[in-house]
Amino acid sequence: MSDEPLQAEDVRKVYRGRIGPHVEALRGVSLSIRRGERMSLLGRNGAGKTTFLRIASTLLLPTSGRIHVFGFDVVEEPERVRPLIAVVPQEGKPFFHLTPREQVYCYLRARGISREIARSRTEVALEKMGLLEVADRLSVTLSGGQKQRAMVATVMATEAPLMFLDEPTIGLDPFARRAVWDVLRELTRKGSTVLLTTHYLDEAEALSERLYIVEEGRILFEGTAADAKRQIGGTLRVSIENGGPVRDLFRSFGRTVEEGTALSVITGPERIHEIMDLALRNQLSATVGPVTLEEAFLTIVGRSIDEE
Ligand SMILES: Nc1ncnc2c1ncn2[C@@H]1O[C@H](COP(=O)(O)OP(=O)(O)OP(=O)(O)O)[C@@H](O)[C@H]1O
Ligand SMILES: [Mg+2]
Repeated sequence: MSDEPLQAEDVRKVYRGRIGPHVEALRGVSLSIRRGERMSLLGRNGAGKTTFLRIASTLLLPTSGRIHVFGFDVVEEPERVRPLIAVVPQEGKPFFHLTPREQVYCYLRARGISREIARSRTEVALEKMGLLEVADRLSVTLSGGQKQRAMVATVMATEAPLMFLDEPTIGLDPFARRAVWDVLRELTRKGSTVLLTTHYLDEAEALSERLYIVEEGRILFEGTAADAKRQIGGTLRVSIENGGPVRDLFRSFGRTVEEGTALSVITGPERIHEIMDLALRNQLSATVGPVTLEEAFLTIVGRSIDEE
């Protein structure tokens, strides 16, 4: 067993439609995850994130390429890989005829964990995910967010060395979302490694040390959130109310983006005084804030769409 949680080399996947056309979902993805890291896979709908996660977690065969999980080939040795991983699938649901308490406990027992440890980990997971009050209700009667919490609780309780979480916080309220973040941070502190996907870019930034952006089955970007922001030409955004119609006034300061009648200028701290002055002289109200990962994402992916 190697120390490296995941290493993917030139992974390709073509879904061969029996009726519809073939879909090239992955076109040569190479990436690696370091031990104890939280890594986010970002990308537009249909970019190939779930396909990659399903191949890496032995649920789907690649068309070509290789993925090793702790040194084991996911295609050749899936039985060695499975005990080392746990998965929250996209749109997964707990078994409807089990309660959250039974769901977590039975899953741990099925993985070969002793009764005693399974019992105590179940209680901790239910408590952390705020499920104690509904722990003995059939899952079918739970709210959407409660079902999702039960899925996360089930997987976190495994303490598996490598966890795949495909949009784990979808449908969760802001408190529950933060509870998941805390749980994932604690798991990696204890030595687990986490690969997640999310469309909440604030979450990716708060949670992950490193990001990959996938676009049309290829890796478009690899680095930290700060690296991504550096790619867009400035660290600050000046938002100018009703600045859209006078966009030309501000073009020389950096990239400008119109949103409704508002105008955003992406720029650096050295130009702020000048821009604010100009806005004031034109009786426009302006505010300054840091650029967000979402803006960086829109720019990086947008640029790639334009090139096509
Ligand atoms: N079983 C399948 N058969 C045929 N095509 C598929 C299948 N599953 C996914 N696809 C296609 O493969 C591409 C990648 O899909 P995938 O589910 O990996 O995207 P994703 O990045 O997870 O998107 P989302 O953010 O919407 O979850 C899409 O074009 C999708 O339509
Ligand atoms: Mg998906």
